[in-house]
Amino acid sequence: MCGIVGYIGMQAASDILLAGLQKLEYRGYDSAGIATVSGDRVRCVRAKGKLENLRQKLHGQDDPATIGIGHTRWATHGKPEERNAHPHLDRDAHVAVVQNGIVENYRELREELTAKGYEFLSDTDTETIPHLISDCLKSLKLESLQDKHAEHNEPSLFFAAVRQAVSRLEGAFAIAAICADFPNEMIVVRQQAPLVIGFGQGELFCASDTPAIVPHTRAVLNLENGEIGRLTPLGVEIYTFSGHRLAKMPRLLDWNPVAVEKHGFRHFMLKEIHEQPGVIRDCLAAYFDSHWTPETRVSPVTLGLEDALLEGVESVQVLACGTSWHASLVGKYLLEQLAELPTQVQYASEFRYSPAPMRSNTLTIGVTQSGETADTLAALDMERERRAEATVADRARLLGITNRPESSLGQLVPNIIDTHAGIEIGVAATKTFVAQVMAFYALAIDLGVRRGKLDVDRAMALIDGLRQVPNAIETILSSQEDRIEELAHDFSETSDFIFLGRGINFPIALEGALKLKEISYIHAEGYPAGEMKHGPIALLDARVPVVAIAMPGSVYDKVLSNAQEAKARDARLIGVVPDNDPNASELFDDVLAVPAIDEVLSPIVASIPLQLLSYYIAARRGLDVDQPRNLAKSVTVE
Ligand code: M6R
Repeated sequence: MCGIVGYIGMQAASDILLAGLQKLEYRGYDSAGIATVSGDRVRCVRAKGKLENLRQKLHGQDDPATIGIGHTRWATHGKPEERNAHPHLDRDAHVAVVQNGIVENYRELREELTAKGYEFLSDTDTETIPHLISDCLKSLKLESLQDKHAEHNEPSLFFAAVRQAVSRLEGAFAIAAICADFPNEMIVVRQQAPLVIGFGQGELFCASDTPAIVPHTRAVLNLENGEIGRLTPLGVEIYTFSGHRLAKMPRLLDWNPVAVEKHGFRHFMLKEIHEQPGVIRDCLAAYFDSHWTPETRVSPVTLGLEDALLEGVESVQVLACGTSWHASLVGKYLLEQLAELPTQVQYASEFRYSPAPMRSNTLTIGVTQSGETADTLAALDMERERRAEATVADRARLLGITNRPESSLGQLVPNIIDTHAGIEIGVAATKTFVAQVMAFYALAIDLGVRRGKLDVDRAMALIDGLRQVPNAIETILSSQEDRIEELAHDFSETSDFIFLGRGINFPIALEGALKLKEISYIHAEGYPAGEMKHGPIALLDARVPVVAIAMPGSVYDKVLSNAQEAKARDARLIGVVPDNDPNASELFDDVLAVPAIDEVLSPIVASIPLQLLSYYIAARRGLDVDQPRNLAKSVTVE
């Protein structure tokens, strides 16, 4: 949530900042702004709304500055107005600050600073920071004047002022600050919000996320919580909040910037839907040993997890939010049915304040594609702390499933399953969802075999079945996409949708409804099909389409009966059904056919037509599919 960028080097900063913000716009798009330093002044330009508005405001203005910071905002404190846009300045417009996060004690600080004569021009928590830095700077300058021999063991007064100011802040934040009086340095801070530094040739970058940096360099260094970086033409110095200098080395990123282009697709979401067969192939290659025999190792799964993590596990609890929570519900089904492990899936935001009682021999899994979701990180951190007094084995039983192993999640938990989906730009998760589900297949099969609950033949049959999934998705894309696009025309004015599924496909009904809500703004609900008669059926009439996921298996006939009940109430009935079902067209008004597949392997396949349906309805309504209103790709605030 919110993206910050910074540049110091020899090129014009504003162009680089704008290009960086473009790559971070997925993090928020309520307003954008940049501040640069040249001569002895800060130049700050901000605009409400998308980055394009800022770009137009800057058009034709020549700014020679070679140091600057930028921000794209997802509003928390204060409406999406220009006066609340970052960067924020101090009273003398000498200090400029961008922040991603929340300063929780901003009210007290604001009162204190107002009493000292600082005037606030915005409603934000962030504006306290430049005033606080300015106040600290003033005191430090005064001290230096009064005692010319005073020894400051600080690299610069500006650094010292930022360090002092930051020690007063409570909350989770990443900050970049520049000052007209110190035109050759930028100070960056991280406290529970991501910040990465990029090392170029004679230039340095900082950003909330690597896509803003990779067009310039792949040598990066992630700041860790409680660290401050000082970026100057001489290089980068990293310190702790208490002022100790740290020795840290950059690492090389191994991914390709081309991955963040649309490649002819109208939207990133559509491109990412089409990337799913490749993502699943990558997961298959990473998670399963194609040459495995029972003589070689216990399990055909190659997740690279320590044996100590999985041995002796008697139950599982999963913490996640949004789509990751839905993937975890599929995971619950798999862990319970394949590995006979009782599994609880909790919303991380709820778990934080009402955690389930701690139980020994429980594997806790945090699932977050971004690895930066504040609620998920806080819930996991809480769990980690709760276990501080537990046995060594229980302390180690923490696992993360993420698409960004280098994220904050990667620093928080000792074990990670990488979902290998490649960077996802569309705010609506698609390919990262199916990759998370793949990670749960691998984990459940691994645990099932290790625990002797899943026989090897069944495990191998499941893995063979998973190997068919990429082709099945390709078949859906080639045979159904045009039909779904056409069908979507009928729903451009619809205001309510119901999605039904049962068993392993109940989470897919939830996910189908979430996709539709977030990108098309149509009200949608997902229900376990058997629950409909206990209330939601009252909503049904000819204006409320019902999508039923009816894949052959243990609940197939049950779902068909539930669909009949909806049809009897005049609902237009859309069925996600196997392509070999001869009776589907009798019951359903519209059929979204998918290749027939074992029920336990059907969730990924069943998701694809629902993703396409949401996408085409939203596109038909002319909405901004990749950047839906009010949302941001990674939710780094509570
Ligand atoms: O990065 P995370 O997986 O932790 O994100 C969790 C949710 O914010 C995310 O899944 C959200 O619901 C998506 N917009 C869904 O498409």
